[in-house]
Amino acid sequence: MGGFSFRNLIFSLVIAILVWGSSIETCNARRGKHWRNRSGTFSSLYKKKGKNHGHVEKSKPKPKPNNPLPIPEEPIAPVQKGLKFNVLDYGAKGDGNSDDTKAFQGAWADACKVEASSMIVPSGYEFLVGPISFSGPYCQRNILFQLDGTIIAPTNSKAWGKGLLQWLEFTKLVGLTIKGKGTIDGRGSVWWTNSIFDDPIDNEQLLLVPLQNITMTKNPQISNSLDGKMPSVKPTAVRFYGSFNVTVTGITIQNSPQCHLKFDNCDGVLVYSLSVSSPGNSPNTDGIHLQNSRNVLIHTADLACGDDCISIQTGCTNVFVHDVNCGPGHGISIGSLGKDGTTACVSNITVRNVNMHNTMTGVRIKTWQGGSGSVQGVLFSNIQVSEVQFPIMIDQYYCDHSKCNNHTSAVAVSNIAYENIKGTYTVKPVHISCSDNMPCMDVKLTDIELNPIPKGYHMYDPYCWQAFGELYAPTVPEIDCLQEGKPSSSWDPLESGCAL
Ligand SMILES: *[C@@H]1O[C@H](CO)[C@@H](O)[C@H](O)[C@H]1NC(C)=O
Ligand SMILES: *[C@@H]1O[C@H](CO)[C@@H](O)[C@H](O)[C@H]1NC(C)=O
Ligand SMILES: *[C@@H]1O[C@H](CO)[C@@H](O)[C@H](O)[C@H]1NC(C)=O
Ligand SMILES: *[C@@H]1O[C@H](CO)[C@@H](O)[C@H](O)[C@H]1NC(C)=O
Ligand SMILES: *[C@@H]1O[C@H](CO)[C@@H](O)[C@H](O)[C@H]1NC(C)=O
Repeated sequence: MGGFSFRNLIFSLVIAILVWGSSIETCNARRGKHWRNRSGTFSSLYKKKGKNHGHVEKSKPKPKPNNPLPIPEEPIAPVQKGLKFNVLDYGAKGDGNSDDTKAFQGAWADACKVEASSMIVPSGYEFLVGPISFSGPYCQRNILFQLDGTIIAPTNSKAWGKGLLQWLEFTKLVGLTIKGKGTIDGRGSVWWTNSIFDDPIDNEQLLLVPLQNITMTKNPQISNSLDGKMPSVKPTAVRFYGSFNVTVTGITIQNSPQCHLKFDNCDGVLVYSLSVSSPGNSPNTDGIHLQNSRNVLIHTADLACGDDCISIQTGCTNVFVHDVNCGPGHGISIGSLGKDGTTACVSNITVRNVNMHNTMTGVRIKTWQGGSGSVQGVLFSNIQVSEVQFPIMIDQYYCDHSKCNNHTSAVAVSNIAYENIKGTYTVKPVHISCSDNMPCMDVKLTDIELNPIPKGYHMYDPYCWQAFGELYAPTVPEIDCLQEGKPSSSWDPLESGCAL
């Protein structure tokens, strides 16, 4: 018995030593190889181009006192975790003229392979980068895209082919973070001018009736003389697709040709300390656009753009937005939903502590005639408006061209609460225009105080159509158009075709 245990013990020890030894060896071997390999790459690739040498020298990996490489405490731990991949090491010039797309691709290709690695876009440089995809699905988790420099988009039409839906794309990633003090500049002015006629208009502009000859704001007239005509499909500046637990923080995204930051099919989105900036008259330049995404938190953001500051589209649920400044822009919108008879489902949306200045709408829900599905469980709370044309709006007759026909079906709207919405409006304080067949239900208005500031447009009283719910406190101005209780043709939210 004793002999057996002894043998067993020795055996275990030998195995343990072997395993330990080999893992140390692989770790060290891998690490050594890695560094050698990278410096080898540099010398072979860049010796010919003397100019790059400065960059290479500057950011050549050197041992860091706070990150001692030898003798890891846990030999089994993934050794490469946290490695840094600087775009300068991959040949990026950052002079604002040279095309740095390949360098970004190279840095990403390596960063992608290492869990919790960092792709470094350093400050003090301006990187011209064409359309690019930073994509999984085979990338490691928790990659940090450290953006302290500036990334600018090409303004040459050739770079965009026949037109692309996005410029910087992040797809199928888990735990990716974009962080830093840097700027992403879409240089969109070359796109804004040449599509004045094809851009859809925001329906609510039809309610604007100038009292005198006000020159309606036109799209900015900036010539794109040398670069040729840009394609009619305009790219979103930064788009996340099919990703989990992604974060965007610290950076500025500006002058996108179209939407600035889009999340599509994502679960777990955190955006904070973000600035979006483009002119109030730049067409269709949404700030943040959410679609088919859940568990989204957006806070502490300054959003100034030419369309919705935040746009929440079909398939979004569990979205929390707070402490956001919006303006100029078209406010925070849910929709437009149900276009071309589609089914749209949006639920559990909270928008709280928002300042709106000089926006078209404040908080809005917009749906097309003929759609189906539902918008349910929305709270707009603590919204401070200043010189907003339409602070509170539900529009179930949304139409971005001249005329749309009425249909019997509609995206059903219910359980929508507005509380503590205060400030000034310039056209109409409340516009709740609901479907004849699917009246809005459970619309709750509490602590509404909106005062007029005429700005040369015809001013309206509060307006409701087929809107049912409760007024919880006296409102300024008086809102007597909301109908108490339930409509006679009341409908069941559970039958909307949306999973709740
Ligand atoms: C770098 O390492 C890879 C595989 O580890 C090898 O294929 C390649 O030749 C190496 N490159 C240099 C420059 O050493
Ligand atoms: C408005 O414009 C029309 C035609 O452009 C002009 O005849 C009229 O005098 C203008 N009215 C005011 C108040 O400027
Ligand atoms: C995302 O984060 C949540 C909460 O931390 C976690 O439960 C979930 O597993 C993460 N998702 C993925 C795909 O890692
Ligand atoms: C609604 O969304 C919030 C995040 O804004 C989340 O904490 C909450 O659990 C969600 N409620 C339901 C019923 O899913
Ligand atoms: C659609 O219905 C609304 C409400 O009943 C009505 O005001 C509007 O004129 C109709 N539009 C068309 C194009 O028939």
